[in-house]
Amino acid sequence: MCGIVGYIGNRESQPILLEGLKKLEYRGYDSAGIAVFTEQGLEVTKTVGRLANLEGRLQGDPLRGTVGIGHTRWATHGKPSDVNSHPHMDNTLKFSVVHNGIIENYLELKEELMHQGHRFLSETDTEIISHLIAVEYEGDIVKAVQKAVRKMRGAFALGVLTEYEPDRLVAVRYASPLIIGIGEGEKYIASDIPAILEHTRDIYILNDGEMAVLTRDGVELMTVEGNPIAKDVFHVDWDLMTAEKAGFDHFMLKEIHEQPKAYRDTMRGRLSDDGKSVSLTELSITPEQLRAINRVHIVACGTAMHAGLVGKTIIEQLARVPVETDVASEYRYRSPIITPETLVIVVSQSGETADTLAALREAKRNGARVLAITNVVGSSVAREADDVIITLAGPEIAVASTKAYTSQLIAFYLFGLHYAQVLGTQDEAFVSHVLAAMQSLPEQVEKILSQAEVIKKIAESISRHANLFFIGRGLDYAVALEGSLKLKEISYIHSEAYAAGELKHGTLALIEEGIPVISLITQEDLQEKTLSNIKEVKARGADVFAVVNEGNEAEIAKSVDSLFAIPRTLPLLTPALSVVPLQLLSYYASLALGHDVDKPRNLAKSVTVE
Ligand code: F6R
Repeated sequence: MCGIVGYIGNRESQPILLEGLKKLEYRGYDSAGIAVFTEQGLEVTKTVGRLANLEGRLQGDPLRGTVGIGHTRWATHGKPSDVNSHPHMDNTLKFSVVHNGIIENYLELKEELMHQGHRFLSETDTEIISHLIAVEYEGDIVKAVQKAVRKMRGAFALGVLTEYEPDRLVAVRYASPLIIGIGEGEKYIASDIPAILEHTRDIYILNDGEMAVLTRDGVELMTVEGNPIAKDVFHVDWDLMTAEKAGFDHFMLKEIHEQPKAYRDTMRGRLSDDGKSVSLTELSITPEQLRAINRVHIVACGTAMHAGLVGKTIIEQLARVPVETDVASEYRYRSPIITPETLVIVVSQSGETADTLAALREAKRNGARVLAITNVVGSSVAREADDVIITLAGPEIAVASTKAYTSQLIAFYLFGLHYAQVLGTQDEAFVSHVLAAMQSLPEQVEKILSQAEVIKKIAESISRHANLFFIGRGLDYAVALEGSLKLKEISYIHSEAYAAGELKHGTLALIEEGIPVISLITQEDLQEKTLSNIKEVKARGADVFAVVNEGNEAEIAKSVDSLFAIPRTLPLLTPALSVVPLQLLSYYASLALGHDVDKPRNLAKSVTVE
C-alpha cells in the first residue's frame, strides 16, 4: 500500500514531505521519492529502500522549494528499484505524478502511448499517468487530469504537479484513499491522516470520483467530471497512534476490516472485461505446459498452509487434478515425488519464510515448475518462482495473519478457475457463475463485520476457558484449523481443530461439561453428518457455538447453544466468509484476556529461520 504526501505553502516542502512519509511507514513500503518545484524547475529524487536512504541522498543535494509531492511505494507493478519508485514524470519532464492503487488497463494505454512515440523508463503502471496528462495538457492542468482519468480504469489516488502551473497541486481519488489538509496559507494532500496531523487537524475527505485543486489560499473541490462540490471540514481529534490505525484499536482489527478491499483488489484486473472469465495475464505458464501437469503440490507454513488446504479442494474440484498440501518444514525431508510434470504452489504472505523458500528450491532442483502466491513483490519467493500471483492485501502489520489468508483464498479461486478454463473441466456458464458469486464476497464480508458485537459476546465467554475445540467437515475442517491457530496465537487459549467425524476415534474423551466446541456447518451436503457429531459432544456436556449459512438458523438452533449466520454463497466459496467470524472471535478473546493483540508472544511476522 503506497503512501502519498503533498504540500503547497510558504515553507520548505522537503522536510514536510519527508516527515509525512515517515508517518506513513506503517503502511509498508520498499522505496520512496519526492518531487519539488525548485529554481531549476520540477526536480525529482527517489530511491529504493528505506526513507533513510532517500534522506541520505537529499542531505548532500536538497530540493529547495515550497511546493512538492512525496511517495512511499509498495511494489505492485515492477520490482522495487530506483527507476520504479515514484514520483514519475513524462518525457518532457514537465509533469510529475505520485499514485496509490492500480491502473487495470495500463498495458493497453502504454502500448497506445508507445505508438505515439512515448518512451518509458519504468515497469510501473504509474508512469503512463504522467504521459497521459502531458498528452491531454492544453494550458489547464485540471482539465488535463480529468481527461486522463477518464481513460484510466482501476483504483487510484493521485497527486499531480506541472511546471507550467507551479501554484497548483491537483489531487484525485478513485477507490484509493486521499485526504486534503487545510492550513493557514498552506494546504496538504495525504493518503492518511497521520502524515499531516502535526500541521493541521482540519481536513476534507475525498470520496471516490472526487478531486481537489489546491493553492496556497484555497481548495477547490469537484467531481472528476468537473462539477463543483461542497464538503464539510472534518476536524480530527484522534492522537497519532489512533490515526495510524484509522481509528481502530489494533492493526489486527483494522486488517480484518480491510478484507473487503483486499478481495476487490486481488480480483481487480484479473477478470475479463465482461467479468465472465478469469484472465491471469501475469502467468507465463502456457496452456500446453499447464495441460502437461499431472499433480499439484501446495507447500506453505502456518496460516498460509491453511489457505493451501482450501486451495487443494478448490483445484481438485475445479480442475480435477490431484493435489497434496504439505507443511513446508516437512515437505523437503519426506522425499516427495516431484517430477517436471509437478506444479508446486508455494504460498507465503511475506515471501521470506525460510521453510517455504527451502521447499521452493527443493521443488526446482527436482525439475518442477513453481508458482508463488505471495503478498510481497520482489520477495525471495516471488523472485525465485517461475510464476507469481501477487495477493493485493496491502501490507499486513499485525503479526496474526488475516487479510493475507483471505486474499490467498481469492488467489486460489482465480487460479483454480483459470486452470479449469485451460483444461476445459468446467463450462463457461459455471465459471461465470462462480465469478459472479466471488464479486459479492466483499459486501458479504462487510455484512459479517457489521455484526461483530455478536461475536464479541461469544469471545468473552470462551475466554474464560483453558481448552476448546473447533470441528467441521470438508472445507469447514480446513477453516476450523485456521480458526484454532488464530485463537492459540493471540489469546494463548489451547484449542484443537478436529475433522468432526474423527472425534469419536479418541478425542471425545476430552469433551466434558461446559467445554466450548466451535462448529462450522456451512457445507450443506455434510450438514447432517456434522450435526450427528454435535450430538456426540452435546451428550458429554459441551457448549456448542455454530457458524452456519443464513436460512439454516432455525433448523440448526435446535442442536446447538448459540450460532452465527454468514451470508449465503457457493459451498466452495464459504471459507472466504466463515473464517471472518473466527478471526473476530480470536481478536475479542485476546482483548478480553488483556493480551497484546498485534504482537503476540513467540511469533514473528516473518520467520526466516528453519
Ligand atoms: C499466523 C501467522 C503464521 C504465518 C507463517 C507463514 O497468523 O502469521 O502462521 O502464516 O509463519 O508466514 P508467511 O505467509 O509469511 O510465509
